[in-house]
Amino acid sequence: MERPGWGSGRFLILALETSCDETAAALVTGEGLILSSVVSSQADLHARFGGVVPEIASRRHLELVLPVLRETLGQARATLEDVEQVAVTRGPGLVGALLVGLSAAKALAWARRLPLVPVDHLQGHVASLYLPPNPLDPPFLCLLASGGHTLLLDVRDHSGFEVLGGTIDDAAGEAFDKGARLLGLGYPGGAALDRLAAGGDPAAFSFPVARVPGLDFSFSGVKTALLYAVRDLGDELEERKADLAASYQRAVVRALVERTLEAAERTGAEKVAVVGGVAANSELRASLDGAAFAPLELCGDNAAMIASAARYAPAVPYPGYLALDAYASREAA
Ligand code: KG4
Ligand code: ZN
Repeated sequence: MERPGWGSGRFLILALETSCDETAAALVTGEGLILSSVVSSQADLHARFGGVVPEIASRRHLELVLPVLRETLGQARATLEDVEQVAVTRGPGLVGALLVGLSAAKALAWARRLPLVPVDHLQGHVASLYLPPNPLDPPFLCLLASGGHTLLLDVRDHSGFEVLGGTIDDAAGEAFDKGARLLGLGYPGGAALDRLAAGGDPAAFSFPVARVPGLDFSFSGVKTALLYAVRDLGDELEERKADLAASYQRAVVRALVERTLEAAERTGAEKVAVVGGVAANSELRASLDGAAFAPLELCGDNAAMIASAARYAPAVPYPGYLALDAYASREAA
């Protein structure tokens, strides 16, 4: 049966993503058209702990994975019978959380003898750039900045990348979240800090970001500088919060931009791209002239980017994937 918007000769990929605190599923065609993409965030559940609690995340994924899957199929007016390939995030991430998505994906694929494509989460973020209507073609230099990672990647083809540099302590998203927490903005506070910064003076405070050798990043010092500034302000804090947010954001964004441009120069990259949750930051988007940014709805964790990566990754035929395990870090892959 032909359904509106599906195109002809469609090949449907069903993707699942459960590496952290988002339970996500998506249906994407072989040409990269997103038919549906559902993301259920558990952020509220973890807010009072100031960060993701792995055990709570796994349990919540278990409760959400089937409703999210049903919603994804429903929105595309599809059934499991229409699916030709299953894709899933295998790592890096919280192993207990990853295993929920991986087990669900194995079961879905096994039941219909479909192939399964295990996808690397970081490759998924990069692949958020490969979907229509404006797909970016490699080679390019990519900044991946999220809550868990800050990496500079040399992307030479659609199927992988080489790591040029990374953070030696906090990730950029973590720096935003910790800064937001110091300003009483809740968790995860990156987007709230971004909004507050819009009404502040970025030159009001000086928050230098440590420069480390090579193409690496360090954000732990700037966070401590903000902590001292907050303490020193005492009663004045409330009225200076927007200035603090703007100055802090300026420091983190400058560090990201400087290192990215440095990496582009060193590698001779003609194109620069930014992906990951922090790619949604308004100042970062305004600061890298000519760079390609992941679409806003695909910056944070989602399953459409996992399906996108699956289009360029090898599929494991039935039943070989039943033995696949999740991995916490790329080193453990
Ligand atoms: O990619 P993502 O959803 O999850 C990980 O793979 O980590 O990224 C989430 C991170 C959080 O730290 C969040 O605060 C940050 O992205 N973030 C932002 C903005 N929106 C989300 N950081 C700065 N400005 C934003 N507008
Ligand atoms: Zn992510």
